[in-house]
Amino acid sequence: MQTAATPALAMLRLLGGYQISQALYVVARAGVADRLVDGEVPVAELARATGLRPDALARIVHVLAGEGVFAFDRPTDLVALGPLGRTLLTDGPESLRNIALTWMETHYPPFGELWHTATTGEPAIDHHFGMPLFEWLARDRERAATFSGAMGDFARAIRQDAFAAVELEGVRTVVDVGGADGAVLAALARRHPGLRGTVLDLPHVVAAAPPVLRAHGVDDRITAVGGDFFAEMPPADCYLACFVLHDWSDERATGILRRMHRAAAVPHARLVLVETVLDRGESPEVAALLDLTMLGMLTGRERAAEEWRALLAAGGFRLDRIREAGGPACVIEATRVP
Ligand SMILES: C[S@@+](CC[C@H](N)C(=O)[O-])C[C@H]1O[C@@H](n2cnc3c(N)ncnc32)[C@H](O)[C@@H]1O
Repeated sequence: MQTAATPALAMLRLLGGYQISQALYVVARAGVADRLVDGEVPVAELARATGLRPDALARIVHVLAGEGVFAFDRPTDLVALGPLGRTLLTDGPESLRNIALTWMETHYPPFGELWHTATTGEPAIDHHFGMPLFEWLARDRERAATFSGAMGDFARAIRQDAFAAVELEGVRTVVDVGGADGAVLAALARRHPGLRGTVLDLPHVVAAAPPVLRAHGVDDRITAVGGDFFAEMPPADCYLACFVLHDWSDERATGILRRMHRAAAVPHARLVLVETVLDRGESPEVAALLDLTMLGMLTGRERAAEEWRALLAAGGFRLDRIREAGGPACVIEATRVP
């Protein structure tokens, strides 16, 4: 990978980031990495297989080779996967392909309006598409499914240790609030054979859960419920919310916490959040980028430990502890104050 010799050259690379993002989108969408798992392929053959134009593909691959995505030997025209190449495979434990698709199809166009957000406070997406993110996603099932896939990419890439760190000793029922396709709760239920639970998410999102729960063999213990977490909350003795509260302003996030507080099945119900904590955890630069995502795409923010403590208190919960879980994610544990 290249490093810049002067501040001006470093700045040029940063300013050209929009081209790198779009080049990554083209190869992710075309499935270029999938064609290279068995070894190097001539660019002309790669272009034929992916439907891209050979000249354009060669120039895109040349730039991405400088970023470690591919290896490209121009004299022979041979392309191979570079150190980062496997992250663009369609499947696999390191895949971020759904993030590439979602960020470039749903996030990139609004981010052209970041100036608007910086001067008015209105999320760029509301200005660009004329509606909030989750409404925009709900208009197109494929778009919504790619977004859920992107959340799954996050789970594998940056939160896998976080879920392993979630302890559920003594817990009988869990509601995963904003639990998407149920993959997180299904994995937890497999580790805790007595656990019963509910995945709560918007109806069109949670529609993807039943096959996931069946595939994990937990559909007899975990049910999927379509609903609005601002309006309803199933009872439970533990609530789980992974990267949900960061989507919302303090006022809206407090509303979700208060719903959990009201619905809790036991006085000292537990709450487990998986979120970034700005002053804790590895990869603070990823947490800072997520904070910018929240600024442009939602009303929420990434929060520091004291901000989490205050938010939880406003919702009726006491912050017990924060555990760093590898990568930028932390597990935040809290208890309902009766
Ligand atoms: C950032 S995603 C996190 C998904 C999942 N917890 C994970 O970690 O992969 C936020 C989730 O909140 C859901 N959501 C947004 N608004 C909602 C609402 N009003 N009621 C229920 N779920 C909602 C979205 O559909 C999405 O699945």
